[in-house]
Amino acid sequence: MDKVRVGLVGIGGMGYNHYCCHKNLETSDVVAVCDVRTDMAKEKTGGAVKIYGDLDEMLEKESLDMIDICTPTYLHASMAEKCLEKGLHVLCEKPMTLDEKEADKLLAAVKRTDRNFMVAHVVRFMKPYAYLRKAIKSGENGKLLRLEMHRNSSVPLTSWQNWFLDESLSGGVVTDLSIHDLDFVSHVLGKPDKVSAFWRPLKDNSSYSAASMLYGDTLVSCEASWYKVKINFRAEFLAVFENCFIDFKDGKLYKNNEETDLSDFSLDDELGVSVKGDNPYKDEIEYFIDCILKGRKPVFVSPESSASTIRLTDLVKMSATRFANTPIVQNLSRKTFKRT
Ligand SMILES: NC(=O)c1ccc[n+]([C@@H]2O[C@H](COP(=O)([O-])OP(=O)(O)OC[C@H]3O[C@@H](n4cnc5c(N)ncnc54)[C@H](O)[C@@H]3O)[C@@H](O)[C@H]2O)c1
Repeated sequence: MDKVRVGLVGIGGMGYNHYCCHKNLETSDVVAVCDVRTDMAKEKTGGAVKIYGDLDEMLEKESLDMIDICTPTYLHASMAEKCLEKGLHVLCEKPMTLDEKEADKLLAAVKRTDRNFMVAHVVRFMKPYAYLRKAIKSGENGKLLRLEMHRNSSVPLTSWQNWFLDESLSGGVVTDLSIHDLDFVSHVLGKPDKVSAFWRPLKDNSSYSAASMLYGDTLVSCEASWYKVKINFRAEFLAVFENCFIDFKDGKLYKNNEETDLSDFSLDDELGVSVKGDNPYKDEIEYFIDCILKGRKPVFVSPESSASTIRLTDLVKMSATRFANTPIVQNLSRKTFKRT
């Protein structure tokens, strides 16, 4: 086999991005797309693939190797489990699931079926974050003393039926947005000794979260927000080591205030495959497909590590519920997070 037959489910904002990435990969063959909005799916794919409005029908009629899940988050767990049980490999957009309970159930399905499963934690494939990961793991700059991560955007208002705004469907700003940085932290540093968090809904679906985590005497913080005002998306970090500091701002990486050129920086040794490095979304898909073709597990983003990230997002939310009774505004639309 030199190409993987792909069924893509959900061709909204992120699904279309994945679709274009697949189309640019020689090892991928998108056979069919499933979306409840079939007309929109036909328009986006221009008649190039078969379109279905129902996942069960697509699974029944098509002969596929893998499913790429880009549906709203509340559908990830059930869709992924169904596809694994059908013997398919599954790439699933982040977050893996809405909570730890669902993640554990899905993890059991991955083990039971022995299929490849990977969550599309794209930040792990981004060069500035990979550079930071190497800097932390190599120890060449001394001990990491402090890591501060920020991720801010406007309230997401372009999704299907505005599902992002309902916390029971998206998990809210912690599970949906801050998860990118929480996953980095969990992947590189593991489980923190202590978590202390703050998470407040503001007006008109805005939401603000900040989590502090202690790893020994290393202090890490992840701040994320959805603002009701229109802002440009921002993702930044500052890492203070004993012997240097590295920061990422305005899309540029600096070591001790000197801009660092990452054009030749490569993740190939971590991935075990040569990817182009020009588009982290394409790279993550290429990596996953390469694992299928070579019969190896996608250990760079293991199912266990993605489940650990969900555990951390849950810890952050649990810690934050301590502040839930001191809202900034009254009549909040947000529901308080509860563990079931
Ligand atoms: N990695 C990233 O940087 C990143 C960025 C944005 C979104 N995401 C994730 O991608 C996922 C999708 O987000 P989005 O922004 O594309 O949302 P979206 O609303 O734009 O797209 C979701 C699509 O799923 C379709 N859909 C809904 N129910 C369906 C069903 N039962 N069967 C088939 N299709 C169905 C909708 O019609 C829509 O086209 C989410 O989990 C989100 O968290 C990841």
